[in-house]
Amino acid sequence: MRRQDSSYRHLRRPEWITIAAAIVVFVATAAIGQVVPQMVPQLEGPTPSMETGAAGVLPKWVTDDQRKMRAYPDQPPIIPHSIEGYELSVNANRCLSCHKREFTQDSGAPMISVTHYMTRDGQMIADVSPRRYFCTACHVPQANTPPLVRNRFKDMSDLGFKPAGSE
Ligand code: HEC
Ligand code: HEC
Repeated sequence: MRRQDSSYRHLRRPEWITIAAAIVVFVATAAIGQVVPQMVPQLEGPTPSMETGAAGVLPKWVTDDQRKMRAYPDQPPIIPHSIEGYELSVNANRCLSCHKREFTQDSGAPMISVTHYMTRDGQMIADVSPRRYFCTACHVPQANTPPLVRNRFKDMSDLGFKPAGSE
């Protein structure tokens, strides 16, 4: 006897294909959803988020006094020397005691650039602009550590253009 009551017999072919495609898409996106969180870097580490893990060892700063090339023109240069114990507060700014315009002759430190003496409207002022007072908001020391995210950055000069004055 033919089983006329089974419901799938009532579905025509295009409807079957639509349902099958929907199942495939559902399974595929679920599978991708499983894989993706494992591909993004686990910034929080293996410690469960509600527990306190032991703090990692602080990396050793590179303090070789070699000024590093900047990756792009407006990059805040990185700090190539130790800043251990330098006070940087409302009352005292140790960085300025060497890097301020008036002190660079004796300290031999590179002067903070003119942009540090400008208001946000480009107005020149006599002293360091308050928005450039807390140096370490932009300038940071470097350590030799493996990057959390792979970096494929290419310097502009490696992209095959002829710089001015090279011929
Ligand atoms: C004792 C003087 C002194 C103090 C204090 C000091 N610096 Fe420096 N800084 C230098 C000298 C000298 C250099 C040049 C490179 C070198 O010799 O390390 C330099 C280089 C730098 C550079 C690199 C500039 C470039 O063009 O590559 C940055 C950024 C910098 N310092 C930021 C700071 C910050 C931020 C502080 C405070 C937390 C600070 N410095 C405190 C003397 C000082
Ligand atoms: C808001 C971000 C910011 C803050 C805060 C800041 N800088 Fe900078 N700094 C920069 C940028 C961006 C550059 C590179 C472009 C330029 O010269 O403006 C720079 C450049 C420098 C240079 C290199 C100048 C040159 O001509 O090579 C020195 C030295 C420096 N800063 C020191 C300091 C010190 C010391 C402080 C704290 C008093 C400080 N900066 C605060 C962003 C900042």
